[in-house]
Amino acid sequence: MRIGILNSGGDCPGLNAVIHGVVGAASKLGWEVVGFRDGFEGLLPPGDYMHLDPTKTIGILKLGGTILGTTNKGHFVAKVGDGSVACVPPDVIEKAKRTLRQLDVHALIVVGGDGSLTTGLQLFREGIPVIGVPKTIDNDLEATAMTFGFMSAVASVVDALDRLHTTAESHKRVMVLEVMGRHAGWIALWGGVGGGADIILLPEIPFSMERVAEVIRERDAQGHHSTLIVVAEGVSLPDDGLVKKKKVGKSGEDRLGGVGERIAERVQILTGKETRECTLGHLQRGGSPTSLDRILGLRFGVKAVQLAQEGKFGQMVSYQNYRMGEVPIEEAVSKLRLVESDNDVVIAARSVGISFGDEAE
Ligand code: F6P
Repeated sequence: MRIGILNSGGDCPGLNAVIHGVVGAASKLGWEVVGFRDGFEGLLPPGDYMHLDPTKTIGILKLGGTILGTTNKGHFVAKVGDGSVACVPPDVIEKAKRTLRQLDVHALIVVGGDGSLTTGLQLFREGIPVIGVPKTIDNDLEATAMTFGFMSAVASVVDALDRLHTTAESHKRVMVLEVMGRHAGWIALWGGVGGGADIILLPEIPFSMERVAEVIRERDAQGHHSTLIVVAEGVSLPDDGLVKKKKVGKSGEDRLGGVGERIAERVQILTGKETRECTLGHLQRGGSPTSLDRILGLRFGVKAVQLAQEGKFGQMVSYQNYRMGEVPIEEAVSKLRLVESDNDVVIAARSVGISFGDEAE
C-alpha cells in the first residue's frame, strides 16, 4: 500500500509534525508514503514528490514551515476571496489522477485550510480517495475545536505584547499591535488576553473609536499612562470597513492588513497621546511550533492514516472534546467558526477589565 501526502495554502507551525505522524504511523503498517511538493502543484505530471520514510522525518517535529513546501496559488485554487468558489478545471483533475495512478497511490492526505480542503473535496468527488487534515493558524474551522498552529501564533502575540509593555510604559504611550486571523478574532482574543492587552478589537464585536479613546482617558485618570491595544487584521473600521492590501497572485484572495496603522492615527488624534503601531505579520506563522501544536499535529497525522486504513475517504480529521474523530470534509468547509459575544474567553476578559471598544463593559 502506498499513500500520498501534501500540504497546501499558507504554512503553519506544526505541519512537519503532521508529516512526522503520517510517516511514522504508515511505516508501522508497512505502507510507503510519497510527499508531494508545493501543494497540489506536485500532482501535475510527471509529479513532483519525495519518498518519505522515518529516516527522512527524523528531527522535523520541532521545525516550523514544511519540508514539502507549499503554495496558495497555482492550478488548483478552488476558493477565492470571501468564500466564492471557483472549481478546479477538469483537465487539471485528470492530470492529478494520472499522476496518482502512475505512482500507485491508494489514498491522498490533504492538509489544508478551508480553501485547500475545498479543492480536496472536489478531488474526492471526482474519484480520488482523499482524507483531510485541518490546518490554519486562524483556528476558524467550525468542524474542529482547535487547529495546530493556532497556539504557536498566540505565543508570538503574547511575546510581542510582553515586549511592547515595557517600551509603552517607559514612554507613557499607546501601542497598537495588529495581528492575523483574517475574518476571525481568535488570535487577537487569545493573544490579547494572554499578553495582558487593555483593549482588544475583534471583527466580531463592533466597536467605536470614541469608546476606545474614552477607555484610554479613563486609564490615564487612574494613573495608567500606557495602553496596549490588540487589533485583528479583519476588523471593520466604524466608518470605513475592512482595510485591504492589493489583490495578489492567482489565489485572488484579498490580503488584509493596515488597520492597525489607521487605528493608531485615530487614537492619537482623539486622545492627544503619543501612539505607535506594530504589525506582527508573518512572525506569527514562522518558527518552531509550541509543544501543544507538535502533539496536536502528530495526532492529526496518525489519525489520518487510521482513516485511510479504515477506508473513510472524504472525511477530515477533527479534534473535539480532547479526542480525535472525523467529520465529512463537506461539513468542514461549509462554516467558519467566529468568536461569539458570549464566548467564555470574551466574558473572562471583560471580567478583568479588558475593553472590546464597545459599550458593553
Ligand atoms: O490564513 C492564515 C493567514 O496567516 C491569515 O491569518 C493571513 O491573513 C493570511 O494567511 C496571510 O496570507 P499570506 O501568507 O498569503 O500573506
